[in-house]
Amino acid sequence: MKSFRDFMEERVREYYLQRKVGDDFFTAPELDRSFGRALSDHLYQFVRHADNPLILELGGGNGSLAYDILSFFREKDNKLYGKLTYYIYEESPTLVSLQKNRLREFEGKVFWTQELITEADIVLSNEFFDCLPVHVIKGRKELYVDDGRAIWEDITDERTLTFLDRMGYSALGQVIEVCLDCIDLLRRLSNIVRGYHIVIDYGYTSEEIAKYPNGTVVGYKAHRVVMDVLKEAPPFDMSAMVNFSALVEYGKDFGLLSVSFQNMREFLLSSSTFLEELEKLSLSEKAEDIERLSRLKTMLISMGERFKVLIQKKL
Ligand SMILES: C[S@@+](CC[C@H](N)C(=O)[O-])C[C@H]1O[C@@H](n2cnc3c(N)ncnc32)[C@H](O)[C@@H]1O
Repeated sequence: MKSFRDFMEERVREYYLQRKVGDDFFTAPELDRSFGRALSDHLYQFVRHADNPLILELGGGNGSLAYDILSFFREKDNKLYGKLTYYIYEESPTLVSLQKNRLREFEGKVFWTQELITEADIVLSNEFFDCLPVHVIKGRKELYVDDGRAIWEDITDERTLTFLDRMGYSALGQVIEVCLDCIDLLRRLSNIVRGYHIVIDYGYTSEEIAKYPNGTVVGYKAHRVVMDVLKEAPPFDMSAMVNFSALVEYGKDFGLLSVSFQNMREFLLSSSTFLEELEKLSLSEKAEDIERLSRLKTMLISMGERFKVLIQKKL
């Protein structure tokens, strides 16, 4: 028997050893380059006066986000680009090879690490925190898994009880996911980041938690939802929506002040690069541009509400 947290960690790790982004689900950087370019608009404002800016990306996927960010900086400000260094923190050797291939034109500019580096001006991630394993709780019980069966045991970890109490969830009768790994990572990142920490992911706030009475853990296989993650044969992707209120609350302990929290639609529409691209594509009659326009609309409409962008500043 193992905790659901350990079960999820195993599934996610084995998944990314065998599969890549696109096989079972898509992410915004894979949909269109305008996502990475909109993010770069903001990154540029954050690092334009830095001497030797260093950006750390967590979980590089197929390498598309890094590709779009580095291309943007190269086009926009070659002098700054010359001083920029980009690191990708990636656990999967399979994805590291894929990323190296995708980013071969940026050799000497981008580096890989399986350990967190010690300093960065910006730490950013897209769909990374949702991969971190969660404890699944209902009332005073925690979910364990035994050979595909769900077993509920008393909560023994004090940190889980403290989390429920601090977040005001102790009396809720519903399923709650507690991502202690997210908080541990946030603490470690707060010691690394000199400027901004940016988290882009699908998630909820404490005010929205009641919308998910059965929790938010979901599996994906071949672009379809896995009905029973405890019984499904691996590999399949597994994730839990990110609790942004917890990142804001615990960030305060670590000197990370949350300076902006928007949904993806607001975030994209606040980028002049994104707006220009949207206008250009809307006016074009080329088939390729019409297809791209529909992908931008997917980002704005179906992903636009569910995805959130949290920006924290290191004090
Ligand atoms: C859902 S993908 C997102 C990829 C990319 N950011 C994108 O938006 O397309 C998650 C990424 O995080 C990596 N990852 C997941 N858990 C990790 C961990 N514990 N340590 C390092 N990388 C991890 C995966 O290998 C994968 O590259």
